[in-house]
Amino acid sequence: MAKRTRIKDIFSAETEKRYTVMGWVRTFRNNQFIALNDGSCLSNLQAVVDFENWDTNLLKRITTGAALRIEGNLITSQGKGQTVELVADKIEILGDCDPEIYPLQPKKHSLEFLREIAHLRFRTNTFSAIFRVRHALAFAIHKFFNDRNFVYIHSPIVTGSDAEGAGEMFQVTTLDLNQIPRNEDGNINFKKDFFGKATNLTVSGQLEAELGALALCDVYTFGPTFRAENSNTSRHLAEFWMIEPEVAFNDLNDNMDLAEDMLKYLISYVLEYCAEDIAFLEQRLSEEEKVKPQADRSEMALRDKLKFCIENDFERLTYTEAIDILKNSTPNKKGKFQYPIEKWGADLQSEHERYLVEKHFKKPVILTNYPKEIKAFYMRMDDDDKTVRAMDVLFPGIGEIIGGSQREERYDKLVKRMEEMHIPTEEMSWFLDTRRYGTVPHAGFGLGFERLVLFVTGMTNIRDVIPFPRFPGNAEF
Ligand code: 4AD
Ligand code: MG
Repeated sequence: MAKRTRIKDIFSAETEKRYTVMGWVRTFRNNQFIALNDGSCLSNLQAVVDFENWDTNLLKRITTGAALRIEGNLITSQGKGQTVELVADKIEILGDCDPEIYPLQPKKHSLEFLREIAHLRFRTNTFSAIFRVRHALAFAIHKFFNDRNFVYIHSPIVTGSDAEGAGEMFQVTTLDLNQIPRNEDGNINFKKDFFGKATNLTVSGQLEAELGALALCDVYTFGPTFRAENSNTSRHLAEFWMIEPEVAFNDLNDNMDLAEDMLKYLISYVLEYCAEDIAFLEQRLSEEEKVKPQADRSEMALRDKLKFCIENDFERLTYTEAIDILKNSTPNKKGKFQYPIEKWGADLQSEHERYLVEKHFKKPVILTNYPKEIKAFYMRMDDDDKTVRAMDVLFPGIGEIIGGSQREERYDKLVKRMEEMHIPTEEMSWFLDTRRYGTVPHAGFGLGFERLVLFVTGMTNIRDVIPFPRFPGNAEF
């Protein structure tokens, strides 16, 4: 096939020259103006056909959704809405699209409807913008870490350890479920399974990242993680991507600095490199906001909200301080929280996190030093023996976007905590080895990639920022 020029590049290409473009028809107006999109950018290229000289059978096949190859001369546009246009003198239909049955008509479709046709939704302005931004964020994550000499560790997806307790796991097996081999005591004989033991899909790459950090110092993982929790919310997926840096010799403060720097870097990156898409998503969001009741409307436009996060220091406070604020807050006193805050030790729900971020501080918040009871076994115990060196980064509209901690590097304290939490230490001896052989303070965190994309794009449902969402009852495509 002849060389094609990407539509993105056409807009800055020299005029009065011939180009070939390929893409899909968005609209065809008056048998004369084709709006062609190839996904390289948000904007369509206008191709003009001088209709009298054209074969009407060909023109009939230029329908919304059809794939075309167009050759022609690029000229400065006379019309409004575009700077250049292509005067087509050769059009080839690469793929027909029957307008009678094509589900994506050129009109506004609801996000719910588009979710049902997720295989086609890439072809809309909203989803092409989201997935270009998602790509830019993924690239920026690697760039951020590479520029800082971090090593990308590929942690396993199939794991033999189910000890982290980050969430319910999906089992991986090749056993015939109709004929499960059993031991004499009636339990499943996993020795007969593919790996010779019970295995699951990973909930996190952290424990493996820790092994890497205790030799390479600065490492990160970036991969898919799986949680079989039955959380049918707009912020949970059963399959999501997580970025988990882990750094030797870092303490909780260093960890917070890294998290804040990273988030600010990523948001700045998108503002700089995805300007057209973000402007479009801002416009989309403001139209959505207009139909909401006044009280639920966001006070800030998308770009202002993003800039605000870059320009302000995140508020850092302890869980204990946060509980005091929440206990005395108006919604708590007026019984407006679904889960009222009564005493220290309560786990924070998203409504509490969002109150702190959106109403009280009105900026991103990092909460630290949570009660040990509501956090994982590997977090470093504070001197009071009650709280651990945990940190959660809370974002407006999202709640928790990052969860992390300084790790318990002291062998005895770690083993004690594991025993208290009924975590089998023999099975985890590989993890404990890092604390036996040259242990050092270290810290890390996990950033939920889709929650970041959600924030940056101003979307409200996490199912709209991953191409093919998996959630309870749904594994389509
Ligand atoms: O707080 P979590 O469970 O932390 C961990 O898994 C640690 N091992 C991370 C670490 O210290 N290396 O999850 C981290 C983040 C959350 O803050 C959230 O953004 C995201 O992962 N997350 C989810 N995103 C979408 N769907 C879900 N079901 C999620 N569960 C967690
Ligand atoms: Mg968490």
